[in-house]
Order: sequence, then C-alpha cells, then structure tokens
Amino acid sequence: MLSPSQAPRRDRLLRGVCILDFGAQYGQLIARRIRELNVYCEIVPHDTPWTEIERREPAAILLTGGPESTLVPEAPGIDPAILSAGLPILGICYGMQLLARDLGAELVREDRREYGPAELRVDRAGGALFEGVPRESRVWMSHGDSVTHLPDGFAELASTPRCGVAAMGDARRKIYGVQFHPEVAHTQFGKQILDNFLHRIAGITERWEMKSFVERAVAEIRASVGSDNVICALSGGVDSAVAATLAARAIGTQLTCVFVDHGLLRKGEAEAVVAAFRDVLHLNVVAVDARERFLAKLLGESDPERKRIVIGHEFIRVFEEEAAKIAGVKYLVQGTLYPDVIESKTPASKAGHKIKSHHNVGGLPEQMHLGLVEPLRSLFKDEVRAVGRVLDLPKRIVERQPFPGPGLAVRIIGDVTPERLAIVREADAIVCEEIEAAALDPKPWQYFAVLTPVRSVGVMGDGRTYANLVAVRAITSEDGMTADWARLPHALLERISTRIVNEVPGVNRVAYDITSKPPSTVEWE
Ligand code: XMP
Repeated sequence: MLSPSQAPRRDRLLRGVCILDFGAQYGQLIARRIRELNVYCEIVPHDTPWTEIERREPAAILLTGGPESTLVPEAPGIDPAILSAGLPILGICYGMQLLARDLGAELVREDRREYGPAELRVDRAGGALFEGVPRESRVWMSHGDSVTHLPDGFAELASTPRCGVAAMGDARRKIYGVQFHPEVAHTQFGKQILDNFLHRIAGITERWEMKSFVERAVAEIRASVGSDNVICALSGGVDSAVAATLAARAIGTQLTCVFVDHGLLRKGEAEAVVAAFRDVLHLNVVAVDARERFLAKLLGESDPERKRIVIGHEFIRVFEEEAAKIAGVKYLVQGTLYPDVIESKTPASKAGHKIKSHHNVGGLPEQMHLGLVEPLRSLFKDEVRAVGRVLDLPKRIVERQPFPGPGLAVRIIGDVTPERLAIVREADAIVCEEIEAAALDPKPWQYFAVLTPVRSVGVMGDGRTYANLVAVRAITSEDGMTADWARLPHALLERISTRIVNEVPGVNRVAYDITSKPPSTVEWE
C-alpha cells in the first residue's frame, strides 16, 4: 500500500502462495492463474532468503520455470531452508528439476528439447495432484533437461511418451513437481492441477476476493494517512480512477483529485472524466484546462521521444502548481499495478533496451517529497477492473481501453497542431464507434486512428484532392507486451473507411495496419 520508506512492516496480505521466480517466461501467468482460483500469491526472486519468505507466512511455495539448466554449476537455486520448512511445495519445469537435484536425484540433459504439446498419461498413483484429471490429456512442454531418477520418498505420478517423469510427488512431505506447464492454456487440465495443489494438498482456505480486498484497502488507507491531506492525478484511465475511488472511500474530503486536461484526449473524454468523478462519484475534483500550454510546448516538436518528454515534464509542472494551492498535502495516490512492481525489481541487465519513455506520474513523488499511497500495488489489471466493478465505477471507465499518457500527440506522426488534432480525434471517434457497435467477440484490446504525415491524390465529386492518409490500428493482446493485428471483418473496415473519408475533412485515404508487435509497437510513436 505505502511505498517501502513509509510503510509500517506488514508482510502478510492474506495467507497464500509465495512464488519463487527463476526468470520464467510464464511467471506472471502462474500468478494470474492462482489468483483466478481465489488464492492470494506474490512473486519474489528465487534467491529470497527463507527468513524473508517466512515473514509473509505463506501457506505454500511454488517454484517457477526458468531459462537455465540445473546441471550447470552457476544454476540459480533457493535457500535450502525452504525445503526443510515443512510447507507444501510445487515445482514447475525448472522448479521440478531443482527440487529433484536439491533432494538428491539424478537429471540428464536431453539431446534435443521437448517443446510443444504432449500426451500426458497419469499413473494409477497420480493421487491428490491429479484428482479429476483423466488418465490421458494434453499438456504443454518446454524443457531441455529431464529427471531420470526420483529423490527418496517420491513417486512417479505421470509421464509423456518422451518424458518418463512428467510429474513426481512425495505425498507425506507435500512436495510435488511437474515437468509441463499447468499455467498455460494449452495444458488441458492445468487449472485443475493447480487447484488440486492449492486446495487439496496445501489446504488453503482464505479466499482472495475483490470485495474483501476493497474493505481491507479502505481500512489500510485510513490507518496510514490519518488526518493528512492527499492528492491524486486523475488521467481518465481505470487505474487512477480505481485508486482515487478507494482513497475517497477511506478519507473522503481529505482527498483532492487533479485532472489535467492537456488537450490530447479523445473526443468528449475530458468532459466525461470530470462529470463521472464529480457528479457520479462525488469526488473532489480540480479540473485544469492546460490545453493551450501543452500545445504551445509541443510547437515545432516532431520527434516522438521529444514529444513524450515535453508532455511528461509539462504534466509534472502543472500538477505541482495545483498541488501547491492545496494546504497540508502529505501524500500522493498512485495507481501503480503489480506488474510494475515486479518489473521494477528486474535486474537492470535483464530490463532490455528502452523503446519509449512511457508517460506516467512516476516522476512526481521524488520532486514533491510526498508519501505514496499505492492501493493497487498487489493487483493485476483484470483485478483492478474487478475492483472498479465492486466500487460501482461507470462502465465507460472500468472498460476503457488502454490509452497512452501522451494521448493523441503520439498518434499524430510529426507536428501536433490544432487542425491535425481535430482530424485524428474525429477519425478515432469513428473507429471507436464502429468497432464498439460491431460488438465483436472477443473485442480487440485496442483500436484507434493514426494521422500519418503522408498526403496522397484522390478524387471526390469530380475534383482532385491532395489530402491526408489516416491509418487504422486494431490489435488483439493479453497484456500489451505482445500483440497481433485484429482480423476485423471486411464490412466493418469498409464502414470505417467510408465514414472517415466522408465525415473527416482533410482525409481522402484510409489504410489498415497489419503488423504485429513485435516487430512493430502498438502505438506508432
Ligand atoms: P507500445 O506502443 O509500447 O504500447 O507497444 C504498449 C501499450 O502501452 C500503451 N502505451 C502507454 N501507456 N503511457 C501509458 O500509460 C504511455 O506513455 C504509453 N505509450 C504506450 C499502449 O497504448 C499499449 O497499450
């Protein structure tokens, strides 16, 4: 809730699972699956000492997969005290191999990796882990090493044609390992297997539910903020909306929300945000019309990174000016989510290249010397939406598609001018209206218009035109990290194209973006 510097030491949110991460490709997916089963879990680095894990009072431990081999001397490991702590443990892929190695069994490196689907055959002694799983089912494999001999006390529970020990377990010590990935959708009974581990084997009874999360979060904010004043930057997005609403429930009029209208939002959005928060949710909202300031700062800036930086800095300046007008502010509410918390712990060497400067209010607290209130620090995006529903936030906010902080400025390639803003805003409204009216299932993750710097020749009526090219982008994605272009029905694309060309002055051509991410990014800038 509070950032480490202000937080009273409170290690246990709810009795759940501690996930030790070995750099797994599917680490966050494991956490999400466990949360979907109404069990609380946290991801910590694999080398977290037992003393630190113990403070969280976990009900069970889970070891993830990872890119390394346990057969090399520098293989990442765990504090040996974890194995003797008496807690139920489930190792997945690398996690199972590590259990086998550390408990004294033998592994071999296979000549070739086993990757992709495989037929799992559950042994007669499959036991509690495979309760409700048919004798034969499909699982997803991705490994190079294999366990060939079991550690003392373990039984083989399942196999695939290429993997003798696809699952092993010691029912007495409640230590289990699976070579396949139960967290991915390709494993037919993956969720059942995780459920069995959590509920049958580890006997976890505390339920992770958004309704009780709300009650706890409100109580915690109240306790930590006391009688001090708090501010929050509302962006119109679901994260800041949910964070602000939780804070308002806790401390009422001690909270002031600041909404900076930078003039780069979509059609009607600024008005809708202010109306929703003021009139429907009755929050204390200061709306700042900074449209001219931002436009003036953006004048002559056509480089994508420069635009992002200019907007980020100006945002902080405006916000600081407003905050200075409110007496006795000690805290800032931020909608930081769990994936940001995990990612900020990633070693710099793993963090990779910077692709874009993402705009958020992360720079604010250091400059303003405010304490942080981050009520969503333990939640994934879909959980934030669920909290929004529990809080009765308007649907428009809860289901709002992701939108970049620098707004339409990064959807206008090149110079941002009032005329170009008007074009992209109108075109975007048509894309949104048409895609929403089509009620696609599944709905694309994001869909929008981009104004390109290209002009081309056309003919309208009987006259020649030389006008702008608008690109339409619609993507499917799980998390925005990777994406595919949405296969929109041709009739829908046709409606979008016809309406944009007819209704948006200055546009005579529409193109559809058919690149995935990677190699492209979602936004064009
Ligand atoms: P990219 O373009 O990096 O976008 O593939 C990935 C996701 O992030 C959103 N996005 C942003 N979100 N501030 C944000 O809060 C930003 O500056 C920003 N830039 C991109 C983008 O819309 C997509 O969902």
